[in-house]
Amino acid sequence: MTRTIRVDARHPDPSSIEEAAAVLRAGGLVAFPTETVYGLGANAYDPAAVARIFEAKGRPSTDPMIVHIADARDLRTVAVDVPALAMACAAAFWPGALTLILQRHRDVPASVSAGLSTIGVRVPSHPVAQALLQRAGLPIAAPSANRFSRPSPTCAEHVRVDLDGVIDVIVDAGSTTIGVESTILDLTVTPAVIRRPGGIPLDAIQRIVPEVRMSHQSVDTAQPQPSPGQLLRHYAPRARLTLYLGSVDAVADRLAADARSQAASGSRVGVLAPAEDLLALAPRLAAAAGGGRIMTRRYGSRADHDEAARELFAALRELDGEAVDVILAAGTGHAGIGAAIVDRLTRAAEGRVILANG
Ligand code: TXA
Ligand code: MG
Repeated sequence: MTRTIRVDARHPDPSSIEEAAAVLRAGGLVAFPTETVYGLGANAYDPAAVARIFEAKGRPSTDPMIVHIADARDLRTVAVDVPALAMACAAAFWPGALTLILQRHRDVPASVSAGLSTIGVRVPSHPVAQALLQRAGLPIAAPSANRFSRPSPTCAEHVRVDLDGVIDVIVDAGSTTIGVESTILDLTVTPAVIRRPGGIPLDAIQRIVPEVRMSHQSVDTAQPQPSPGQLLRHYAPRARLTLYLGSVDAVADRLAADARSQAASGSRVGVLAPAEDLLALAPRLAAAAGGGRIMTRRYGSRADHDEAARELFAALRELDGEAVDVILAAGTGHAGIGAAIVDRLTRAAEGRVILANG
C-alpha cells in the first residue's frame, strides 16, 4: 500500500513531514517534491533501502543516483576532497537545481553511486524537500520518482501512475516549479564538465566556473547525433518521437507535411509544440486529409522557456497516454533552460532530430 500525504507546498504541516521522515528513518521509500521534479527517496546510508529504489524504479543498478542534503554545511558527510570551486558553486546556487559530482565519502554505500568512487550531491530548495531533509536528519538518495524510461514526474499523480503499490509514501505538494531535472556539474575533472543541462542554465554556471565545458554525452547543440546509439537513453515514449528544430515557420512547414503524410497512411499522430508553433501549424494541419488522426498538445511557449520546461513532461505523458503511434515535437530555442528542453527531447527522439532551417 502506498500512502499519500498531502501538504502545503510552502508551509508543510510539521506532523505530516515527521510521518514521512519516520518512514525514511525506518528504511522505507518516500516520493517527495523538489523544485525540479519529484524524487524517490531513501536513507542514503542504508544499502537495503537504496536497493529498494532500484527495484521500485526498474532502474539498472549501473545508473547512479543523486544524494540530497539539507545544507551545504553537510557536504563533507557525503563527499571528500571537496574543492574550493564546489564551495563557490554551493554559495552561488544552493539551495537550488544544481547537482555537483564530487569524490564519495566511504560512509555512503557504493551502490548509491552505482559503484563509482564519486557522488552526485544536491541541496534542493523546495520547502517540502528541505523540511523532510531536516526532519529526517539524513542524506536522502533520490533519483527521479518515475519508472525507468518514463518522463520524470512533475506532480504526485505522475508518481502514482508509475509507482503506486511499490513505494511506501507519496508526499503530494502539487506541481513542481522548474519541471526539468537539475544541471549536473562534474567537479572531479579539470576543467569542470556539465554532464546534463538542467534547471540552472549554462551562462549562470559560467559566471562561477568560466572554463566549464559541455559533456559530449549531453545534447547541447542543434546538431543531429551521428550515432544515436551513443545517446544516453533517457526517456523512450511508447510512440516513436521525432524532434524538429529551427525557426517557427520552417518547423511548421516540415512538421505539418510529415504529420499529414503519416496520418494519411493510417498512423495516429501526436504533435507536441510550443504556442507559437501550434499557431503556425493550425492552418497547415487543417488541410490534412485524415486530420482527425492528428492530436496536438501545447507545452509553454518559445517566448518563455521557463514555462515550456515546467509543462514539458506532463505534456509528453499526456500524449503518450493517448496511444498515439508517433509524436512529432517542435523544440524551443536553446537559451536559458531551453538547452535542457532540447536535451530531453533529443534523448526522447533517440537521435531522430530534423533541422528544419531554410
Ligand atoms: O533534479 C534532479 O536532479 C532530480 C531531483 C529528484 O533531485 N533527480 C534526478 O535524478 O533527476 P535522476 O533520475 O536523473 O538520476 C541521477 C542522474 C544519473 O542518471 C546520472 O546521470 C547522474 O545523475 N549522476 C548521479 N551520480 C553521478 C555520479 N557519481 N557520476 C556521474 N553522474 C551521476
Ligand atoms: Mg531520472
